Amino acid sequence: MARMCGIVGYVGSQSALNVVVEGLARLEYRGYDSAGTAVAFDGKLSVTKRAGKLVNLRDALAGTQPPGGADDEAHGAHSGIGHTRWATHGPPNDRNAHPHVDCTGAVAVVHNGIIENFAALRLELERRGHELSSDTDTEAVAHLLEEEVAKGAGLADAMRKVCVRLEGAFTLVAIYSGEPDLVVGARRNSPLVVGVGDGENFLASDVAAFIAHTRDAIELGQDQIVELRPGGVTVTGFDGTPAEVKDYHVDWDVSAAEKGGHDYFMLKEIAEQPSAVADTLLGRIGADGRLSLDEMRLTDDELRDIDKIIIVACGTAYHAGMIAKYAIEHWTQLPCEIELASEFRYRDPILTRSTLVIAISQSGETMDTLMAVRHAREQRASVLGICNVNGSTIPRECDGVLYTHAGPEIAVASTKAFLTQLIAVYLIALYLAQVRGTKWGDEVFAMIQLLGTMPQKVEQVLETIEPVRELARSLAGERCVLFLGRHVGFPVALEGALKLKELAYMHAEGFAAGELKHGPIALIEEGLPVVVIVPSRARPILHDKIVSNIQEIRARGARTIVIAEDGDEAVAPYADTLIRVPAVPTLLQPLVATVPLQVFACELATAKGHDVDQPRNLAKSVTVE
Ligand code: F6R
Repeated sequence: MARMCGIVGYVGSQSALNVVVEGLARLEYRGYDSAGTAVAFDGKLSVTKRAGKLVNLRDALAGTQPPGGADDEAHGAHSGIGHTRWATHGPPNDRNAHPHVDCTGAVAVVHNGIIENFAALRLELERRGHELSSDTDTEAVAHLLEEEVAKGAGLADAMRKVCVRLEGAFTLVAIYSGEPDLVVGARRNSPLVVGVGDGENFLASDVAAFIAHTRDAIELGQDQIVELRPGGVTVTGFDGTPAEVKDYHVDWDVSAAEKGGHDYFMLKEIAEQPSAVADTLLGRIGADGRLSLDEMRLTDDELRDIDKIIIVACGTAYHAGMIAKYAIEHWTQLPCEIELASEFRYRDPILTRSTLVIAISQSGETMDTLMAVRHAREQRASVLGICNVNGSTIPRECDGVLYTHAGPEIAVASTKAFLTQLIAVYLIALYLAQVRGTKWGDEVFAMIQLLGTMPQKVEQVLETIEPVRELARSLAGERCVLFLGRHVGFPVALEGALKLKELAYMHAEGFAAGELKHGPIALIEEGLPVVVIVPSRARPILHDKIVSNIQEIRARGARTIVIAEDGDEAVAPYADTLIRVPAVPTLLQPLVATVPLQVFACELATAKGHDVDQPRNLAKSVTVE
C-alpha cells in the first residue's frame, strides 16, 4: 500500500458499520480503488470488501450484492475497522482489498504503508502451512497475528510482537473475534490519529474520518500501539512501556480536514513531497546491497540487449522524461531520446526489438501516451511504464512497470507525481548502469544513498519557502514571466513556466539559457521578471555560463529571480531576488529546484483569485488525443 490509503476504526455504542462506512466516505477525497470493512460480533467477524467505489461496498453491505455481503446481525456490531485502498502491491480487485484475515477468520487487519520484508515473511508463513489468498504485503500480518493469538496472547500483545518483526512504513489496525470490545492500532512512519469520544473511540488515518463525532484527538507517535475500548484509550511503545499521549482539539471544519488543514489539495500535495519521494524509494535495495526493481518485469538479459531508449510522455511527465535523458546517458552510456507522446507515432520513429521505450504517466490513462505505447509495442520494442495509478491502462499494456508511490494526486497540476517520476527515472538509470556494468556497484550504492537524503532536502526547501510566497504575491500584477535554465535546469525552467501558465493563466516561457542570444533575448525589457535556475557549482562549465547569462539579461533591465544552491556566492551580485536550495549533485538538482517554482505558481495564482485545484479548461486525466 502507499501511504494514502484511508483507515477507520471504531468501538462504542453506535453501529460500527455505519460509523466506519461514513468515515470511509469522509476519506474518499484521498482517492482509492477498493474498500472494505470488518466488524466483530457474537464471537465472529464479518468481512465485506469490494473493488471500485464505495457504492459497491455499500450495496454489498445492504445485502444487494450477495454472496459475501454482511450478515444482518453485523449491522448491530459495536466494533469495526474499514479501509479504502490505493493499490500498489497487487492489482485493485476484491481479493486484494482490505481487510485481510488469517486462516481461521478470527483476526482482520487493514494497513497503510509498505512492509518491505513481506516476501520473506510470506515464505516463512507458507512453510508453516498458512494459506495466503491475496497478492498484498498486508495479509502476512493477519497470519502473524493469528500465530501469536494461538499461543495465548491478547490482540494488543500479539500486535506488539508482530510489529517488531516488520520493516518499512506502516499503520495497522486490527480486530479479533475473541475480544470484540477492542480495536488495536500500530503506527510506524505512517499517519494514525485517535478520536476520543464519550463512551466511544475512533481511529483513522486523518481526522476527517471522525470529525463529525468528536474534535478531541490524540496523535500517535512513532512505533506506538494503541488499544481502543469503549471506555478508554491506552497507548504503549512496541515494547509495551506506557507512552505519553499528546491530545489536542481539532479546530478545522470537515472540508479543511480533508485537505489536511491546507486550503487547496495542491498545497497539501506540495507538502507531501518529502514522504512521496521517500515512499518511492522504499524497498529498492536488496539483501545483497544491490539495487533491485522486482516489479519491473523485464529481465536483466532483456535490459542488456537494449541499444537505444526512447522516452514518451506529455506535459509535466515529459519534463521528467527530459531530465531522465541526462541521467540515462550519463550513467548508462545508452543513447536516449525524449519525445512528446502526441508526436511520437506520426514521425515513423525507428524502433527495433532492441529499443526500450519508457512511457511516463501519472494517471496511466493519458490517451496520447497510451497510443505511443501501443505503437511501440506493434513495432516490437519493449515498453516500460512509469506510473502512479496501479492497474491503470498504460501499465497494463506495458511489458514492465515501475510504480511511483506518490499516492493519489487530486489537484489538476502535477507536483508530487513529478518528483516521484524523477526518482523512478533515476532508479531505472541506475539499475541499467548496474546491469550493464557501466557503473561499479559501490558507485550505484553511493548514488542510492544520496537519493535517500532527498526527502530531507525537499523538506528543507519547504521549511524556507515563505519568501517565495511573498515574492509571488508581489508579482500578481505582471503579465509575463520568463524562466531560464541549462542542462537539467532547462526542463525545470519549462516546468516552472508550465505551472504558471496553467494556474495563473499568464504568459510564461521556459528557455535553455544558451538559446537566449538566438532570439528570445529580444523579449527582455525593463522590469520583466526572469527566473533563472542556476546549476550546481559541481559543474563549473555550466555554472559559469549561466552567471554570464544572468548578467546579460540584467544589463537589459530584467528583474532577476535566481534559484541557486546554498553557498553559491558568485550569483549574489546579479540577483534581485535570491532563492536558496540545498546543494545536491547536478543531476538531482531538479528535485529541489522545482519545488519553489510549484509554490511560486500556486501562490501567484491564488493571489489572482484562481482555484488552483481546478484550473480552467484542464482535466486531470486527458483521455482523448
Ligand atoms: C501539468 C500536468 C499535465 C500532465 C499531463 C500528463 O501540471 O499535470 O501536463 O503532466 O497531462 O498526464 P499523465 O502524467 O497523467 O500522463
